[in-house]
Amino acid sequence: MADRPTLTTTAGAPISDNQNSRTAGERGPVLLDDYQLLEKLAHQNRERIPERVVHAKGWGAYGTLKITGDISRYTKAKVLQPGAETPLLLRFSTVAGELGAADAERDVRGFALKFYTSEGNWDLVGNNTPVFFVRDPLKFPDFIHTQKRHPRTNMRSATAMWDFWSLSPESLHQVTILMSDRGLPVAPMYMNGYGSHTYSFWNDSGERFWVKFHFKTQQGHRFYTNAEAEALIGKSRETYQEELFGGIERGEFSKWTVQVQVMTEAEAERTSYNPFDLTKVWPHGEFPPIEIGVMELNRNADNYFAEIEQAAFSPSNVVPGIGHSPDKMLQARVFSYADAHRYRLGTHYEALPVNQPKCPVHHYHKDGQMNFFGQKTGNVDAYYEPNSFSGAAEQPSAKEPPLKLSGDADRYNHRLGNDDYGQVTALFNLFDAGQRSRLFSNIAAAMDGVPGEIIERQLVHFARIHPEYEAGVRAALKVAHGYEASAISQEEKGVAAE
Ligand code: NDP
Ligand code: HEM
Repeated sequence: MADRPTLTTTAGAPISDNQNSRTAGERGPVLLDDYQLLEKLAHQNRERIPERVVHAKGWGAYGTLKITGDISRYTKAKVLQPGAETPLLLRFSTVAGELGAADAERDVRGFALKFYTSEGNWDLVGNNTPVFFVRDPLKFPDFIHTQKRHPRTNMRSATAMWDFWSLSPESLHQVTILMSDRGLPVAPMYMNGYGSHTYSFWNDSGERFWVKFHFKTQQGHRFYTNAEAEALIGKSRETYQEELFGGIERGEFSKWTVQVQVMTEAEAERTSYNPFDLTKVWPHGEFPPIEIGVMELNRNADNYFAEIEQAAFSPSNVVPGIGHSPDKMLQARVFSYADAHRYRLGTHYEALPVNQPKCPVHHYHKDGQMNFFGQKTGNVDAYYEPNSFSGAAEQPSAKEPPLKLSGDADRYNHRLGNDDYGQVTALFNLFDAGQRSRLFSNIAAAMDGVPGEIIERQLVHFARIHPEYEAGVRAALKVAHGYEASAISQEEKGVAAE
């Protein structure tokens, strides 16, 4: 026993016996002064924290971003300068499943990055898809409700999903990717990551550029069919954790090529689509991806809970040279994540080692629960601003250039003047016969039990993307569920005119 560390209470006192409670007599009841027992039970009761309201099931690892290209004319961010090497944390996730969900489930995958830069943490909280289901944040909580459990049955509801999607045609792009091969990757290293939103770059001269981030897998795309995933889940629910954790333990380090698309402010005035619309991509032909570096995952966390479960990513974390954009989804996210972290992890979640910036931090926020670091202003007498005691001071060089805005404050109908079909047609045209056939059967499988009027409403949208899309899903529905079209008028289908 001599070479083992001494077991102690949380207050550091040695524990003499960790196997036998303190009782009144050999056969007697436990005594209330057995504080080791009380402490042990009390801690067990507090082991769980709220799971993330979305993206609860996840897998993560540390790595490095190396910049090989030169985009210094677009951004002053030190993390993106030629030759820069920055440590990072990457957490992958599924969206809808709870903490114990099986890994190989069809769902969008989260791709959340935290870069520990010398100018503060930069978080790029993206997905494995370049677009999203909705373009207005007012619709996000309702959308998520359709992905979670029905309040009465406590089961997930295909009816709710397709009802919402068929009434929200802006979702077609993301739904098509979700139901395609890319909706069920074999493991995190076999998929791309996308920042998805339009962000901005700004340079030393105060010029602003719009930018989209892409992380292209160097392992190649690999996917499971529904049948393969069903067979697999019967054997293991943790296939992503096994592949990611096991691979790194074996010294197999996954890599992604990092690319950006850049658009000038003038070009943004001329695109046929809204470049800040999260349901759209920027076509590569118009805005060619520029290769800027490589990202590698090479180190596992030592403690999953401390470092992956307690990791807190937020689109509000940007650094000088990188900014947001007029994408209204992004503004909502700038609020939502830090708010979620304060609830899920506590006020000082950024003081947890995994979230701590790897650069000096000075601010005038004071006190609060679990504050073990005091107040960081650089001088104990400087606990307010302005002060005469050399407390931390603002840094004007970090000022972002002004953002031009115009227009009247109003609630604008985001459906008007927005083509929800064209880019989905471009995607559908990329699919070969096998990809199309799997798309159709995946959709048919996901529509099991959905009422005919909702199916018909969704089929009208598929027809607008491509006649083959509608015909293919209709045929697959017949094979899967014996589904036959009911005589429902366009009006009854509740589909708005194109
Ligand atoms: P391109 O042909 O230049 O780009 C096609 C893109 O589609 C590539 O990035 C490719 O990713 C990706 N892709 C290929 N097969 C699939 C698939 N089965 N599922 C999902 N993505 C796939 O054309 P455009 O840039 O004009 O885009 C055409 C359509 O491609 C878009 O409407 C969009 O749906 C989709 N797309 C476009 C992206 C973009 O940023 N422009 C990004 C991702 C998808 P990879 O190289 O990794 O194979
Ligand atoms: C997680 C809100 C859209 C990617 C979360 C969480 C919230 C949230 C509250 C849980 C955070 C936590 O507890 O740590 C929202 C809102 C959105 C939105 C309000 C829209 C208005 C998006 C979009 C993407 C995205 C568009 C991707 C492009 C993620 C990812 C996570 C996440 C990857 C998990 C982060 C992690 O690994 O910890 N979201 N989200 N979300 N979201 Fe969103």
